[in-house]
Amino acid sequence: MNQKVRAAVFPVAGRGTRFLPATKASPKEMLPIVDKPLIQYAVEEAIAAGATKLIFVTGASKRAIEDHFDTDPELERALTESGKDGLLASIRNIVPDGVTCVYIRQGEPLGLGHAVLCARPAVGDEPFFVHLADDLIASDPGCLAQMADEHSGHGGSVVAVETVPRENTSSYGIVEIDERDRGRIMSIVEKPDPDDAPSDLAVVGRYLLAPEIFDKLENTGRGAGGEIQLTDGIADLLKERAVHAYSFSGVRYDCGSKLGYLRATVAYGLDHADTGSAFRDYLESVLDD
Ligand code: G1P
Repeated sequence: MNQKVRAAVFPVAGRGTRFLPATKASPKEMLPIVDKPLIQYAVEEAIAAGATKLIFVTGASKRAIEDHFDTDPELERALTESGKDGLLASIRNIVPDGVTCVYIRQGEPLGLGHAVLCARPAVGDEPFFVHLADDLIASDPGCLAQMADEHSGHGGSVVAVETVPRENTSSYGIVEIDERDRGRIMSIVEKPDPDDAPSDLAVVGRYLLAPEIFDKLENTGRGAGGEIQLTDGIADLLKERAVHAYSFSGVRYDCGSKLGYLRATVAYGLDHADTGSAFRDYLESVLDD
């Protein structure tokens, strides 16, 4: 039987330079989409997929993430006294009972592969999720739950993918797959030029990885951009163990870019119980001008 996935790793040490000055003193993962920070969407997706240990690999200026997932008795008391039950509920069970948060510092900005390796002591010898909060995916069930389901079918590692325009391959890990073998990945390369890319199938920020990836990452040298790349570790892993590409159902918003962030805000704003209909009227009036 395949192992249940209990640990989820959130690499959140990156500085978010594409959102400066907003991210000068605040983590990019705390940017809100309507009323929830990106990292909370990430955590909710992981918990819905069965994760009970949330491992944040953090860096400088990221204290707000720890505070967000901690209890705030003073705020709870104030909301209780003023009878704001809805707001109280919204801050109370962000991390439900039975779910633990672990924070590990990534001392040096050596890349995504290095960040994942930093989580090794907290993950142990089990399969685990990696979730990049920049990639917000609207779907039901969530993308990680879909991947856990896929994993339970074959037991191998799973990497979420979607087709991107050829000219954008240099922004992603790109995979070459064997369609006849449940999308088994034959090769993976980090951010190739469009001319060198083996396909237009891009890795998005969701992974379900076998623990053997850690030994690979220990030996992964610096790759694209001078960083230790998770993609290169996966390239080593797939020589020995099955890694499958998974085309999730849902819509991905690249919230690491300004345009993707604005798109997500519009989509989630239209869908939100408090804002949906008034926001739709407003957008229609703007478009009519
Ligand atoms: C990272 C990975 C890349 C992946 C991407 C998905 O890149 O290195 O392989 O395709 O996330 O968002 P980053 O966006 O951090 O540069």
